[in-house]
Amino acid sequence: MSEDENDRPRKSWLVPVPDQSERQRGGPGSIVDRQSADHRALDELMRAYDDEPDPDARGRIVAELGERALRHAFAEEVVLFPAYRKHFPDAGDELTAHIEGDHQQVNDLLHALQRADPRAPGYDAQVREAFAVIRHDAHDEEDDLLPRLQQVADDAELQAIGAAWEAARTASPTRPHPKVSRRPPWNALAALGLAASDRVKDAVDAVAPVGTGRRTVVVGLLAGALGAAAMTATEKAEQAVTGRTGSFMPAHTLQALLGRDVHDSTPVVWVMHYGQGAAVGVLRAVMAQRGLRGAAAWPVFTGVRLAVDQTLENGTGVGAPPWTWSRPDLVVDVVHKAVYALVTGLVADRSLPRR
Ligand SMILES: [Fe+2]
Ligand SMILES: [Fe+2]
Repeated sequence: MSEDENDRPRKSWLVPVPDQSERQRGGPGSIVDRQSADHRALDELMRAYDDEPDPDARGRIVAELGERALRHAFAEEVVLFPAYRKHFPDAGDELTAHIEGDHQQVNDLLHALQRADPRAPGYDAQVREAFAVIRHDAHDEEDDLLPRLQQVADDAELQAIGAAWEAARTASPTRPHPKVSRRPPWNALAALGLAASDRVKDAVDAVAPVGTGRRTVVVGLLAGALGAAAMTATEKAEQAVTGRTGSFMPAHTLQALLGRDVHDSTPVVWVMHYGQGAAVGVLRAVMAQRGLRGAAAWPVFTGVRLAVDQTLENGTGVGAPPWTWSRPDLVVDVVHKAVYALVTGLVADRSLPRR
């Protein structure tokens, strides 16, 4: 943001939102009223950060503030700004593009802060930079955009925009996405998938906070299940080409482990396939935590997976040792386990910070 933009001249005939009564704002629930309330809530969180000496508590405030600011901005980009541009097709584009630029900056800064340690040097400076942009953004809206909109939209329209803005805020992604367009329809389309994946990540964070042992286990289970899904996809593709039929070995192994009669069962194959994939994924998460990550970890973890399979299959007596297999069967098995190891490793490394 340049000094010139900070000093943008205010139009004297516009009444800034903070100087308006609730009635002038279009009543409770209007877009002006909702924006004003949310800007105040953001301001309170910024002041709470200033008053908080503990770095961990500061980090939690930044996380809460970041989610609120991003949902607020997303709903503006998909509801408020298009409504404004409809009334001001020419001048509206310049002002909303300027505010979208601020939103982009907030996304960039919060993305960098997302994985940052609140004790790290430079953390506080970056937080304050984000605060300055958020405050500037609120001023542009309360002193300029919203009062202009009020001059052309009646209370009923301000109420309708307010309701649509609130609905978009509820359905919004919850995390920063700097690479996503700030304009419809692309941001709205991207939000369909991002809102769901953000909520999965939020749920994982809630049950298994970053830095805890539980986090390692939960990330390992999820990473392993995704690795098993990738392995299934490549197995199906390979079987379509080679004509090889699926194996009941996983079901036989699980049945033998549980002391049951060994028989062909597709549901038991899936339980063992994903259960074993998820469980072995925890080993890969531990490797990531201990610093064995990336390309170096791939062959090691492929070997771990092959060793676990052979130990279970041969230990229970349901499988033949690998040296009795045909060469093509051996190659196919190693390739599929390598796919599992690759995907599990990528997810685990991405989800667990380096110690
Ligand atoms: Fe905004
Ligand atoms: Fe706003």
